[in-house]
Amino acid sequence: MRQPLIAGNWKMNGSKVVTAELLNGIKVGIGDVRTSEVAVCPPFPYLYLAEEMLSGTAIRYGAQDCSREEDGAFTGQVSATMLRDFGCTYAIIGHSERRLFNAETDAVIARKCQMVAAHGLTPILCVGETLEEREQGRTEEVVARHLGAVLDLPDGLNLLAKGVVAYEPVWAIGTGVTATPEQAQEVHAFLRQRVAEKDTEVAAKLRILYGGSMKPGNALELMAQADIDGGLIGGAALKAADFLAICKAGD
Ligand code: G3P
Repeated sequence: MRQPLIAGNWKMNGSKVVTAELLNGIKVGIGDVRTSEVAVCPPFPYLYLAEEMLSGTAIRYGAQDCSREEDGAFTGQVSATMLRDFGCTYAIIGHSERRLFNAETDAVIARKCQMVAAHGLTPILCVGETLEEREQGRTEEVVARHLGAVLDLPDGLNLLAKGVVAYEPVWAIGTGVTATPEQAQEVHAFLRQRVAEKDTEVAAKLRILYGGSMKPGNALELMAQADIDGGLIGGAALKAADFLAICKAGD
């Protein structure tokens, strides 16, 4: 009932040439993907290439962040209006790297989700605990707080009805250490349950992606879990063949 979504988060990687090659590789191979929805999130400067090369295909694209402000005097920021202008469908919001390196708080992240949704984009809200938090047995507390920052807004259910959640345990990102399918499923089920406590229909429809060292070799097993509805892929999304293999695993 929930269409799997496989989204590539390319982070701060690439060049004009590399981006065009990667987009082309995905475009050429996408015919083999049957049911999964596929999206890529290049760095801001390369969104024009995504627009040029992906328009008219089934591949969606989005940004890795978005300003919480409307257009105006905000040096260095990129607005939801601009993302819309480039034809973006998605914006990744609250990635742990932004929480860590850009000191993004839950309140800022919640505001960004509202902003992108107000402009017709779909937020991919990232949640996830650090290794230390997991070892302290605080995983549920942390992800509940990350999710709650949006869910508890007056328009929170509406935002989640339009949005996507990505569970990305920080200890699994770029480390090669993947959460086991059971560990991931446990957290995904917990997140869905939190939403279900407010609205069972929104919860049943909500796509919850897993992110953290997902690769062709473990994607099938992870996505076979009842509450894992796709993946947010970092490193493995930088190779068209690997990314497409993960997309096929979602079929
Ligand atoms: O947003 C995707 C991500 O943080 C996972 O990265 O490299 O572990 O797949 P990676």
